[in-house]
Amino acid sequence: MKKILIIYYSQTGQLKQITDSIFENFQGESIELDYYEIKPLRDFPFPWPSDEFFDTMPESVKGIPMKLFLDDFNPEKDYDLVVIAYQVWYLSLSIPVNSFLLSEKARKFLKGKNVLTILGVRNMWVYAHETMKSYLKEYGANHIGNIVLIDKTNNLVSVATIIKWLMYGKKGPYRLLPEAGVSKKDIQESSKLANPIKSALTSDNYTNLQNDLLKLNAVPVCYHVMKIEKNALRIFHKFASGILKKGQAGDKKRIFRVRFFKYYLLLAIYLLFPIASLVFMIKKALFPKTAKKDINYFQGV
Ligand SMILES: Cc1cc2nc3c(=O)[nH]c(=O)nc-3n(C[C@H](O)[C@H](O)[C@H](O)COP(=O)(O)O)c2cc1C
Repeated sequence: MKKILIIYYSQTGQLKQITDSIFENFQGESIELDYYEIKPLRDFPFPWPSDEFFDTMPESVKGIPMKLFLDDFNPEKDYDLVVIAYQVWYLSLSIPVNSFLLSEKARKFLKGKNVLTILGVRNMWVYAHETMKSYLKEYGANHIGNIVLIDKTNNLVSVATIIKWLMYGKKGPYRLLPEAGVSKKDIQESSKLANPIKSALTSDNYTNLQNDLLKLNAVPVCYHVMKIEKNALRIFHKFASGILKKGQAGDKKRIFRVRFFKYYLLLAIYLLFPIASLVFMIKKALFPKTAKKDINYFQGV
């Protein structure tokens, strides 16, 4: 009997749909599947009021934890495979997931465990995943695979649709815009990733798992988006430090700086992103080997 634990947090249910699609046929005579939902003591709102949405940036970027309800999480229980299904907030681990990873229980539990990570995001995730990798390494977990589902529409379109989704609760599609987030089709088709996971689990051999997942396009990395992310994260850190000087999350004294960040971000996305994209696309064409090396790195575990 093999035991799997899926640890997840999801405001919209998207990550639960993704893990359901991948693991729907796992439960049976020889596999036991458990779920653990990360529960903040005071959860974030969904849909988000605008100020609160942007006010989470400093704590996300600086990795400042929130309080969670963890009484029902038993770090002593053993599992053959642990899945961490998570999302990215402001190019960083979402606050609930980061808070879970910072807990003593998570540290104790993850030691020596085989961990598969699954992301359901818009399209900017590579540096948040570096943080995830460093937690797993520090805790002595065995990171055996990674799967990423993104919104494949154009970046400018996906920003517009995700704002509508996260602030008004409407996933769409509506009028000329496609549905927000990971498409229904991609969620359904993620079930194809079950086969390599199942055979690695049953044979207790995870050596080729990531390569097998990559053959099924499990980790899309877009070179120019990844390059922009690196620069954007540096700028987010500066904004975050400035906002945190004015107070903690929710403090009215920081609202001016939070709103300034919001307008900066929208301007950067719609004005600077297209220009920077072009620059990095040219760089990729001029230096394809370096670009491929970067892409390969982020596709690995
Ligand atoms: C505050 C906030 C910031 C986000 N920032 C990013 C980001 O930097 N990169 C990205 O790809 N997605 C980002 N997203 C989208 C999430 O990763 C996720 O896909 C979406 O919120 C779906 O929510 P769920 O996983 O909680 O159901 C952000 C979402 C929120 C709420």
